[in-house]
Amino acid sequence: MPDSRMTDLDSKLRDRVLAWLQTQVPEARVRHVLGVEELAIALAETHHLDRQRAALAALMHDLAKYFKPQTLLGMAGQSGLQLDPVDRADPHLLHADVGAIVARQEFGVRDEDVLAAIANHTLGQPGMSALSCVVFLADTLESGRGDTAELNQLRQVSQQNLTKAVWMTCDYTFKHLLDKGRLIHPRALQTRNWFLQADLGRWSSPAAAAQSLSLGLLPDAPHSA
Ligand SMILES: [Fe+2]
Ligand SMILES: [Fe+2]
Repeated sequence: MPDSRMTDLDSKLRDRVLAWLQTQVPEARVRHVLGVEELAIALAETHHLDRQRAALAALMHDLAKYFKPQTLLGMAGQSGLQLDPVDRADPHLLHADVGAIVARQEFGVRDEDVLAAIANHTLGQPGMSALSCVVFLADTLESGRGDTAELNQLRQVSQQNLTKAVWMTCDYTFKHLLDKGRLIHPRALQTRNWFLQADLGRWSSPAAAAQSLSLGLLPDAPHSA
């Protein structure tokens, strides 16, 4: 949502992105994007992050949402992205990574944290930045997603603790995917495991955690008291 703290440049870029989206995606998707922008700004303010970067990443997160599977696979391949078999089976999942490519090519975004937040909005990433967490959470929890007790609880947790909110939101998404018999991308599972362990204080550092995960050396499962 535009506000008085936006610079002219931010405001012009916002207008350009919205005009572009209006030609590429249905009206309902534009409303979703605006909902993600609103929640991302609120979360950025709560967690003392840059609200403009959160707004920009949120506005651009679904740029590639309606690209055809062959286009997504082609652009991902050209950019050197490592494809998982799940990406080939369900190329739609690539719209997040491809969205970051579009943000760079079409809108000249160079801020690596903003680009990463766009790329991470669907599957997350182990050890991802707070800005990425905010956009990841806003995508699932924006007001247009519904008003269930579960969503409202996740919204509350996201205001209090980004780390906890990320793994809980992954679990929420997994439940829906399992109910529908859909594939679960290994990167989403790695994200969930990383943030669960980080929430429990089991990682000594993000780098150590990432290395443990890439080597398949998951720490002990959390013990229930
Ligand atoms: Fe998306
Ligand atoms: Fe989205």
